[in-house]
Amino acid sequence: MTTPAADGDSGAELPESLIPTLAGYTYTDPSVFALEQERIFEQMWFCAVRGADLPKPGDFRTVQVGRESVLVTRSRDGVLRAFLNICRHRGARLCTEETGSVKRNFQCPYHAWTYGLDGKLVAAPNLTSMPDIDRTEYGLKPVHLREWLGYAWLCLAQEPPSFADTVQADVVQRLGSLEAIDNYEVEDLELGRRITYDVKANWKLIIENFMECYHCATIHPELTEVLPEFADGYAAQFFVGHGAEFGEDVSGFTVDGSEGFDRLGGVESDQDRKYYAITVRPQVFINLVPDHVILHRMFPLSEDRTIVECDWLYSKDVVASGRDVSRSVELFHRVNQQDFDACERCQPAMSSRAYADGGVLVPSEHHIGEFHEWVQTTLAQTKDGER
Ligand code: FES
Ligand SMILES: [Fe+2]
Repeated sequence: MTTPAADGDSGAELPESLIPTLAGYTYTDPSVFALEQERIFEQMWFCAVRGADLPKPGDFRTVQVGRESVLVTRSRDGVLRAFLNICRHRGARLCTEETGSVKRNFQCPYHAWTYGLDGKLVAAPNLTSMPDIDRTEYGLKPVHLREWLGYAWLCLAQEPPSFADTVQADVVQRLGSLEAIDNYEVEDLELGRRITYDVKANWKLIIENFMECYHCATIHPELTEVLPEFADGYAAQFFVGHGAEFGEDVSGFTVDGSEGFDRLGGVESDQDRKYYAITVRPQVFINLVPDHVILHRMFPLSEDRTIVECDWLYSKDVVASGRDVSRSVELFHRVNQQDFDACERCQPAMSSRAYADGGVLVPSEHHIGEFHEWVQTTLAQTKDGER
C-alpha cells in the first residue's frame, strides 16, 4: 500500500497544509481487505457482543470476526464463552442463526454431533462405540474472550495482544486516564435503544469520518447546535482529555437541546455538559455525555460493506422507568445517518481515476495520517510480528 508521498510517482509536491490520504484502491481492493481481515481484525481485540444480550445460559449470538464466524454463548456457570462456529466433524457451520437460545447444547444439523455450552463434545451418533475419541480434544475450538464495558471482546490470535496496551491504551490516549471512562460506569448501564446500519462503505472511511469534525458544519446541523465548537471544524478528538462543551442554552445532549436525564453515577463536574468521542481501534467508537453513552461496533463484511451496530446506553433507572429516550436517540441517529451517507458518497469514488493517488488531509485532519500509518504498518507485519 503506498501513498503519493511514499511512492513519489504522483508528481506534485504537496503544500505544507496538506498531507496525503491512502490511495483509492486501498478502499476497494478485495486483496487489501483480505489482508486487513487477517492482520487487523483476526489479530486484535474485537468488540463483538453486549453481555446483557445473552442473559441466560444457552443464549447465543453469532458474529463475523475477520473471515471467521464466531459463536458467543453463556455457559451453565454464567460465564460468557466464544468458539469458532464450525463443527469439528466435517466442518458444517454449527449455528446458522444470528441470535437464539438453546436449552442445554448445540447440535450440528449435519450428522448431529452435539456440544455442551462449554464447547465439549457431549454426544454423537455411535460415540460410545468410539471410546478413543477425546471429548475435549474434539470439542469446539475456543476463542479468547474478555469482558469490558459490558461487552465481550474477542481475539482470534493465538497469543492475544495485551488488552491494556491496545484497547484501553486508545481510551487513555484520548481521555488521559482510564478513571475518566470508569466514571460513566458503562458496564452497569442498560440498553435504551439499538439501531443497526448497513453501510455500503469501507470500514476505514467510517473511522476516518469519525476522527474528524471538518465536516460537522456542513452535514451535522443538529450536532453543531448542541456543540457549537464543532462548527469550527477543529479536531476535538486530537486534544487529550478535551470534551466539547454544550452550548450555553443547551440543556441536554438531545436533538433539540432539551433536557436529558440525571448525570450518570460517577460522572465528575468537569465532565458535566461535555461530549467526548473516542476511537478504539480497529472497530469501536465510544461517545460519552453526562447522562448516556453511545457505543458503535463495526463489523466489516467486505471492502465496500460494513454493518454498524449502535447502542444507546442509559442508567438502569431511566430504562426501568420507561422514560422517553427518543430525543437523545434522535440526535445521534441523525448524526449517524449524515455520516454514513457521506461515507457511502465517497465509496464509489475510491475506484475513480481521480482518486487513484488518494486525496488530501487539511490540518484539522492531519491526525488521520497517524491512523493511515498504523494501518500500513500493521498490514506490513507478517504473522510472527516480523516485518
Ligand atoms: S459436520 Fe457436524 S456432525 Fe457432521
Ligand atoms: Fe460526523
